[in-house]
Parts: sequence; structure tokens; C-alpha cells
Amino acid sequence: MGKLNLSKMAIKINNKMYESKEDSMPLLWFLRDVLRMTGTKYGCGLGICGACTVLVDGEAERACLLTTADCDGKEVFTVESFPEDGSDPIQQAWMELNVPQCGYCQSGQMISAKALLAKNPKPSVDEIKEAMSENICRCGTYPRIIKAIQKISEQ
Ligand code: FES
Ligand code: FES
Repeated sequence: MGKLNLSKMAIKINNKMYESKEDSMPLLWFLRDVLRMTGTKYGCGLGICGACTVLVDGEAERACLLTTADCDGKEVFTVESFPEDGSDPIQQAWMELNVPQCGYCQSGQMISAKALLAKNPKPSVDEIKEAMSENICRCGTYPRIIKAIQKISEQ
């Protein structure tokens, strides 16, 4: 018989507190299925594609690999944390350079870009490639992603 777990996970997501009783639920399911924050995408479920990238305490992490228990007491930012008016420099650059094609990978790409620029506001092309290397884009938008991050770093 499974162990009864009465503890609740408390996770701050996009500046709001949420509770989960499901300690083994992947963060990705908690975001998408429980909270209906569907901007964070499911790609591989194996930590390979980066479609599910979110910020956890400032680090770009795979929401498919973390459980809600892993995030207990932590601060998570998803793509829904970007302003609705599109005024964030990352949103602006992504729009100006028409970065997305199908769009599926782009929430993860934008979150990885956010993590990179928070730590390194003026990354070199090599640093951009390195930081973004774990976010796969089947549409091959990599050149535009690099240009968009360069544009932000020049502001
Ligand atoms: S869905 Fe998480 S890395 Fe692919
Ligand atoms: S824009 Fe289609 S997978 Fe990246």
C-alpha cells in the first residue's frame, strides 16, 4: 500500500503562491493540467528538448524532470510571466525579428534567453549558442534566436 502523504508543497509561480498535495507530480503536469498554464510545452518528457523550460530560483530548468516536491519553497517563472502587452525586451526582439516559425519551442527558448540575459547581459555569440544549446527547435529558428538575443544585449 502506498504511503499516505499529508504534506503540501508550496510553490510560488509567477509571483503567486500555489499548493500541491501531489508531491510526485511532474511540475510540467502541475503547470499545464492543474493550473492550466499551458504556455509551457511538453516535447519529449525526458529532459532533452527544452520545450518545458521554466525558471526555478533563477535557473533554466526542465519542468518535465522536476516534481512539485522538488519545487517546494521555490520560485518558478513560466512564459506566462511575460507581460500581456508584449513590452518585455525579449518579447519585443522576438516579434521584431519574427523569431518563431511553428512556435512550439519558443516559450522554452524565451525562458532560456531570460535566464542567460539575467546572468550575462552582454553575451558573445558563442555564449549565446552555449546557453541555448539545450533548447531544440525543429523549425531551425536558431539564427533568429541568436540575432534576437544580440539585439537585446545591444540595448
Ligand atoms: S519536455 Fe521537458 S525537456 Fe522535453
Ligand atoms: S519554432 Fe517550431 S519548433 Fe521551434
